[in-house]
Amino acid sequence: MPLLSHRIQSAVASPLRKYIPLAEAAKERGTSIYHLNIGQPDLAIPEKMMKSIRAFDHKVLPYSHSAGIAELRDAWAQYYQSYNIPFTRDDILVTTGGSEAMLFSLLAVCDPGDEIIVFEPVYSNYKMYAAMLNVVLVPVPCSAESGYHLPVRAEIEKRVSEKTRAILVVNPNNPTGTVYTDDELKTVVDIVNAHDLFLLADETYREIVFDGETHRSLFSFEGVNPRAIMIDSVSKRFNICGSRMGCIASRNKDLITNMLKAGQARLSPPTLDQYVILDLFPDVKEYTKRVCKIYEERRNVVLGILKSEPSIVTPHPKGAFYIMIGLPVASADDFVKWMLNDFSRNGKTTMVSPCEDFYITPGKGKNEIRIAYVLETDQLKDAMEILVDGVREYQKNH
Ligand SMILES: Cc1ncc(COP(=O)(O)O)c(C=O)c1O
Repeated sequence: MPLLSHRIQSAVASPLRKYIPLAEAAKERGTSIYHLNIGQPDLAIPEKMMKSIRAFDHKVLPYSHSAGIAELRDAWAQYYQSYNIPFTRDDILVTTGGSEAMLFSLLAVCDPGDEIIVFEPVYSNYKMYAAMLNVVLVPVPCSAESGYHLPVRAEIEKRVSEKTRAILVVNPNNPTGTVYTDDELKTVVDIVNAHDLFLLADETYREIVFDGETHRSLFSFEGVNPRAIMIDSVSKRFNICGSRMGCIASRNKDLITNMLKAGQARLSPPTLDQYVILDLFPDVKEYTKRVCKIYEERRNVVLGILKSEPSIVTPHPKGAFYIMIGLPVASADDFVKWMLNDFSRNGKTTMVSPCEDFYITPGKGKNEIRIAYVLETDQLKDAMEILVDGVREYQKNH
């Protein structure tokens, strides 16, 4: 039997999915599970999209243009223009989710062995894409105690090497929920300009920002074009993760022309999904305002319950729908397994994600978990109380 590649064997299973067998076993034992482990919004599909799905009456379902249908590229461009980001149709490539947008971006800016500076903890799936392309992610550490905000310029800049090709910023952030300040973003822009790097801006959660603050796009800074590449997605903005629609946007014509080669090789993004999301864009601000209010209420429920337990290190995230916290345990991995295998209250338990796999530096994140608040508030309250009870009980037994 031939051996599999070192590359695939050394890749880590998604930390968001690897405990599913334990959850399934718990369900078989009759325990019901609150899933706070994966960022899969529970909110209904927007009615306008349902209408478009029902009304879809094309006789054939062909490949689309590899860059996406013109109507959707225009819709994305108008969406960005409404935020004063002056993209036009030609700056947009429709992708199969933000996931493919990141994969294509890494492919376009890195040769094997090249480096991308990331802020750690980092969205774990990006580690897999880097592994697929032999790209090295160079972590800049951020800590729970500082709310996972970015360190000073010198701390970032000292990681720039001859192999550095880009800095990646995910804002608002997954897994931390942190929204970076204007000064932090400006520092990153100054560094990419000073060292002639690309800037990868993942703004998937742009509209989900709390406490009356507004999101500042990296594209609103002077001098950012043409080095910047936007990685975007409708998954979270419209609560339609399964539609697998995203985009790459950049004013760098050479980049877009070359990335299209990758787009052509995968033929087209899903054609049906492109048509049925078109009507969502004109109402995006009104829709996301409502969604954001729901998440802010949930964030407050989560914070209220976590703060009742002083042994938990609880930052104050201001966006997306995640919070990363420090537990008074040696191994969050063991704690998560224990919650699924050994703990329940009234026949229920709570599933969260341990954070070691969100780190690149070995040994980091061992006591941290990520909570995705994707349940309505009554259920979320119960889920969080079970979690905090679990932390107390686990401490007694370990
Ligand atoms: C920060 C971030 N970027 C990109 C993605 C990928 O999104 P998509 O569903 O569009 O592939 C996610 C999904 O959770 C994410 O959290």
